[in-house]
Amino acid sequence: MNYTVRELKPADAARCAELEKQLFAGESPWPENVFLVEFAAPNTFYVGAFEAERLIAYAGIAMLGPRQDPEFEVHTIGVDPAYQRRGLGRELMDQITHAADLLDGPMFLEVRTDNDAAIRLYEDFGFHTLATRRGYYQPSGADAYTMTRPSRSER
Ligand SMILES: CC(C)(COP(=O)(O)OP(=O)(O)OC[C@H]1O[C@@H](n2cnc3c(N)ncnc32)[C@H](O)[C@@H]1OP(=O)(O)O)[C@@H](O)C(=O)NCCC(=O)NCCS
Repeated sequence: MNYTVRELKPADAARCAELEKQLFAGESPWPENVFLVEFAAPNTFYVGAFEAERLIAYAGIAMLGPRQDPEFEVHTIGVDPAYQRRGLGRELMDQITHAADLLDGPMFLEVRTDNDAAIRLYEDFGFHTLATRRGYYQPSGADAYTMTRPSRSER
């Protein structure tokens, strides 16, 4: 499959919101303005995959805490349903985990306990479950696992 990967910019926010609506219907999908705020924040890194200029996958992390001892939170990852299971999720996870490894911080994320596809992907990248958060997702009330991946030096 032919695609390019680059950091996301404000012009990509509308398409991110369109994909979110498809991927997270019923789970308060982020609208365009939330993506704009996320892209502008100084502590975030958002990356996307494009086929012929069209965004087909996106992912973002935030760095929290001091730069000498940071931790990272996966804020979102999504792949256009028409392009799933072709390695794009793995490609973008590679990008964001690499960013966290550069600064040697642990990563954290929340995932629906019934989202087997995402859980498998995260486990492949060395995440494990820390805890269950009841009713984390709204408005569905679905439960989440908090998963973590140790920093490079702790693995
Ligand atoms: C989770 C998601 C990002 C995975 O993206 P993807 O491009 O389809 O994933 P990849 O093709 O890179 O697959 C990588 C690995 O993830 C796991 N995986 C992906 N889709 C899977 C599925 N439907 N069932 C089981 N495992 C799956 C597998 O381990 C897979 O490796 P393999 O193909 O060698 O078996 C995608 O399914 C998605 O956008 N889902 C909806 C949004 C979402 O749930 N985001 C996560 C919120 S926490």
